[in-house]
Amino acid sequence: MENTQMIVGIVGAGAMGSGIAQIAAQTGWQVLLLDQSSERLAKSADQLAAVCDRLVEKGRLESVESVALQERIVRTTDLQNLASCHLIIEAIVEDFDAKKGVLQALEEIVGESTILATNTSSLSVTGLAGVLKHPSRFLGLHFFNPAPLMALVEVVPAIQTDQQHVVQCLDWMKAWGKIPVQAKDTPGFIVNRIARPFYGEALRIVEEGLASPHEVDAAMKDAGFKMGPFELMDLIGNDVNYAVTKSVFEAFYFDPRYRPSLIQKKHVEAGWLGRKTGRGYYSYQDGKPLGSPANKTGDWGWIQNRILAMLMNEAFDALALGIASAPDLELAMTRGVNYPKGLLEWANEWGLDVVLEQLQQLQSSYGEDRYRPAPLLQDLVQSNKSLEIH
Ligand code: NAI
Repeated sequence: MENTQMIVGIVGAGAMGSGIAQIAAQTGWQVLLLDQSSERLAKSADQLAAVCDRLVEKGRLESVESVALQERIVRTTDLQNLASCHLIIEAIVEDFDAKKGVLQALEEIVGESTILATNTSSLSVTGLAGVLKHPSRFLGLHFFNPAPLMALVEVVPAIQTDQQHVVQCLDWMKAWGKIPVQAKDTPGFIVNRIARPFYGEALRIVEEGLASPHEVDAAMKDAGFKMGPFELMDLIGNDVNYAVTKSVFEAFYFDPRYRPSLIQKKHVEAGWLGRKTGRGYYSYQDGKPLGSPANKTGDWGWIQNRILAMLMNEAFDALALGIASAPDLELAMTRGVNYPKGLLEWANEWGLDVVLEQLQQLQSSYGEDRYRPAPLLQDLVQSNKSLEIH
């Protein structure tokens, strides 16, 4: 089948839906972009026009292609118009009942071969599949923000999903120029789960008065991360980051490894959400942080070791639990959140015994289950093996 004949329906023309529409249209798919609000649809069209103009100015898009790309997206408020889509991606508000309503209505109008997908970040894909008459053609397609720029897509089958639809979606995402990885339907999927200690352990260090946000950020940038945890939380928004942490914590039945931080809660309560409010862990003027950054030559090795060991531990646990294959875990963290290295490879480089020792030290200092080493890591160390990644 030619790409030009393919039709994708996207429900929700907010940040994510609009970005996904742009990706599909760039690949030559016909796009039907639906929102309940015509104002949102108009805003989405204006934003795309501005993006295309910039790309044309920079010489990265021919003006005739810019016109064609924009014409490939048809906007509508009438769900009925999505009847003939090959694929429909729901990207409305993160609310189970709202999503359930849209998905059930879609099921009434599409043919049997249409694949239905959700871009949810935190709801159970299996739970959403459970409200459908034909759950086997439903799955998660989790894009990252901004969707046109972030290569990673987590393809998340519900336990009811037919594998042939998973394979089909993996192929389609590749055709859209994305890097798809298959993830098990568990809280946070891959990236939002494994990345938790990057924020959680950093907050804990500051909460305990062991270092300042500046110092933790300097340490992690020195370890190769583009942004430190506090800079990144200020960029993402403390409200958004806190909500993800809280939802992962609750979904894992309050596992202490994912416990949210009171510092972050206070920042949310104070309205210190980060860049968007001019104040978070840092104060901002004209979008730039005020104050001098920490001295990069400080002895921050212990900060790096503590946060990285917790991240690596999370990756070992995710691997053992079949959340994703080892290569997909590495791809997800390097391409989804731009980590300088895959965490498993990094752990091999450190030596798994070193990672284990770091965790055991934390566990014995704090006596908390939060620092329990992943059983897979312990097994590998006991049998004196490193991890085969490829
Ligand atoms: P948004 O708030 O920017 O856009 C949601 C859009 O859905 C709005 O335009 C709204 O008018 C529309 N809408 C709401 N209810 C509707 C209905 N019943 N029928 C039709 N349209 C409806 O939200 P955003 O950020 O684009 O998020 C959408 C989804 O993507 C959520 O599930 C979110 O968790 C997920 N997501 C968000 C990411 C982000 O960083 N913003 C990243 C990855 C996933």
